[in-house]
Amino acid sequence: MTSRVDKKVILSGIQPTNKLTLGNYLGAIKNWVRIQNDYDAYFMAVDQHAMTARQDPIELRKNTLFSIACYIAAGIDPERCVLFVQSHVHQHSQLAWTLNCFGYMGELSRMIQYKEKSAKSGTNIPVGIFTYPLLMAADILLYDTHLVPVGEDQTQHVELTRDIAERMNGLYGPDTFVIPKAHIPKVAARVMDLLTPTSKMSKSAVNENGSIFISDTPADIEKKFKRATTDSETTIRFDSETKPGVSNLLSIQSAITSESIAEVIARYDGKQYGHLKLETAQIVIKELSPIQKRAQELVDERTELNRILRIGAEKAQAHAERTIKRIHERIGYVVLD
Ligand code: AMP
Ligand code: TRP
Repeated sequence: MTSRVDKKVILSGIQPTNKLTLGNYLGAIKNWVRIQNDYDAYFMAVDQHAMTARQDPIELRKNTLFSIACYIAAGIDPERCVLFVQSHVHQHSQLAWTLNCFGYMGELSRMIQYKEKSAKSGTNIPVGIFTYPLLMAADILLYDTHLVPVGEDQTQHVELTRDIAERMNGLYGPDTFVIPKAHIPKVAARVMDLLTPTSKMSKSAVNENGSIFISDTPADIEKKFKRATTDSETTIRFDSETKPGVSNLLSIQSAITSESIAEVIARYDGKQYGHLKLETAQIVIKELSPIQKRAQELVDERTELNRILRIGAEKAQAHAERTIKRIHERIGYVVLD
């Protein structure tokens, strides 16, 4: 058996802005659960990233705890993985400052998320939106991460992390930082909005009826799927260009049941869109109900969740502190033993 130290490090996080969606679950968490045993795995709720947008303090705290509870309820094993909240490990902001001194204005101005937000609101945005990729780089580099499972939209940030790590390795020695790589999950990489199936399902969609939240009741889930946008044809087949709505429902089913798209389609021979919508809702409800229930129990009870978070923070801090010491030695800060 491989011991923890022989395994590659994998790390990922989701912002606890708003509630987690079916997209987060199928695109991120379910994949984490699948791969957690093969790696030395770090999973976190990145609450400091969430701070780049105004948050209601009560909601942020609630969403942070509920996300960690969802990770556990979905099958992340806190005994095997390091499961934690970003703000519990002060080394993230500490390393982020150093990286701020090595990342360039030019490269940060090219980040798509920053470009989109500044195009909309000009300079009237927090500095954190501009420097945020460097906090993400710190998240990754602190744990000597090899692989970063993220959605497609985050690959640019992982590339930036690599560039900065390579830059610093050039200045301070090749083993200053481990160079990380993005890891894009193959299945159900993109769950689309139910009402506007040409856009990604998102936590912050304008119309909440297009997103399924892990915390939605079965009645909500059924209602949202019944209203899902389809098309004017009647045949159930996969074509994400001309039939994005129907294709999305098929992909969601396939991601949950592990059947191929062809196998899912075969079950709908001679059936109508109504059947597809209703059955997709049922499959989603069956998958999410136990997760929702367990997550709520963990949040309500809190003792167990607090214990897990304390252990997670300690394990994360221990690794992060080793990295901080190594970097501080290299760059010339005074390090006390
Ligand atoms: P976000 O909610 O945008 O902060 O995304 C956090 C992670 O969840 C991303 O890195 C993706 O892996 C995943 N994710 C978010 N939305 C979706 C979606 N609609 N489909 C698939 N994966 C998603
Ligand atoms: N920026 C990521 C997102 O918006 C979240 C994130 C922050 C992250 N730090 C990370 C993901 C480190 C992977 C690794 O989705």
